[in-house]
Parts: sequence; structure tokens; C-alpha cells
Amino acid sequence: MNKILVSSYEQLSDTAAEEVVNQLTKKPDSVLALATGSTPKGMYEKLIERYHEGKVDFGQAYTVNLDEYQGLPAEHLQSYHYYMKKQLFDEVNIASDHIYIPNGLAEDARQECQAYDSLIERLNGIDLMVLGIGRNGHIAFNEPAAWFDCNTHLVRLSESTIQANQRFFSEGEEVPKYAYTMGMKAVMGAKQVLLLAGADKHNILKDALYGRITSALPASILQLHPNLVVICEEKAE
Ligand code: PGA
Repeated sequence: MNKILVSSYEQLSDTAAEEVVNQLTKKPDSVLALATGSTPKGMYEKLIERYHEGKVDFGQAYTVNLDEYQGLPAEHLQSYHYYMKKQLFDEVNIASDHIYIPNGLAEDARQECQAYDSLIERLNGIDLMVLGIGRNGHIAFNEPAAWFDCNTHLVRLSESTIQANQRFFSEGEEVPKYAYTMGMKAVMGAKQVLLLAGADKHNILKDALYGRITSALPASILQLHPNLVVICEEKAE
């Protein structure tokens, strides 16, 4: 594990963006697995800045998002389709047919999950996966559970995740109870994982990186990843 300590969210975002830029410089047709939520927002802003400065080119890149709420259409303001469009895709030269996100409205959940895993395989796996960490230790939407789920699956979100994400939804609007998420096979198969943790993740990050490896704290599996880069604010350490 390579741990990079930074002193501010600004620096976290900048360092994370630099990792993505390096990856795309090294391999322009990289497959990037991308996260949503508040933590990577700054990274996307920095990537857009670098794109405008001519320092990064998304022309050949592929993206596969980690997860999506079940039941939300792509144009819903809280869908991850919408988030990605606004935070990155509308602002850079990524080809629309290189963008993949689970379909929240899929009629057949099992088929959707299998298709997503086949897609990752067809793309020859993920070169760089960007992850945040939930307050309960989830990565993507792999929630604390009795076992590690390998494949893409439909998950019932835990109450703490629903509560944490309620802040993004307007009053009276409910957070979906289910979501599609990549499983641990995709996470552990990624050639490199970039885990981002702001100062608010201090306790859970410590347990994940130095505690027992257990499906009750899904991020703990990352201790076994051969190429893990953690970028965390000093206070998160
Ligand atoms: P956050 O979410 O970046 O909004 O804190 C992280 C996560 O749930 O993975």
C-alpha cells in the first residue's frame, strides 16, 4: 500500500487528479472505474481544469461507474448518470459510447448484473479504480454483510447509507433502497485502486487499513490489493 497524506481537500483532489492524468498519459485507452459522492467532486473539477489546459485527453478512455441506484432514470438529479454527466462527462472529450453505468431502470436485475460483469471482462478489466469509503466502510455499494459479494449485484442499502445520502435528495424525496454495484471481483481485479478519504473518514479508514479483514467492513479487503494507493487528509489518518 502506498499512502499519500495530504493536508487539505484541495490537495487531495489535486493529487487524485494527477494519478488519473498519469494513468491516461501512460495508457490513453485506459478503463477507469469511477466513483460518485462528495469525496471525488474536487478531483473531477481538477480533471476538467487539466483538460482545458491540454494536460489530459479522454478521447480514447473508457469509464465504468461503480454503482447506480435502482429505480432512478438517468435524468433524475440524484442518479449517478446525472452526477457523472454534470461533474465530468459534459466537460471533457470522452466518447459517449465509451461510458458505462448500470441501468437503474433495467427490467431484469440479474441480466443487468451479468451484462455489467461481461462488459468489464470485454474491456479487459479495469486499469484504475477510484473509490471513496462510506462511513460504514462500504466501497462502491458493497455494504457490510456476512460475506464478500464477488460479482455485480443488486444490494439493499444499509440504513446508515440511506441516512448519509439523504442529504443529496430534496425534502420528502426518498433515497432508493436498492442499488446496483460492482462486486469485489472487479475491485480486487483492478490493476490499481485509488482510495480517497477526507478528514471525516478518520475512524473507518483506520479500521479498514489496519484492522481485521472482514466482510463486516468491506473496505478492509483492500489490504489484500497488490496495488493500492490511498490518498487521505492528515486528519483522516
Ligand atoms: P462520500 O461517500 O464521498 O459522499 O462521503 C463515500 C461513499 O459512500 O463511498
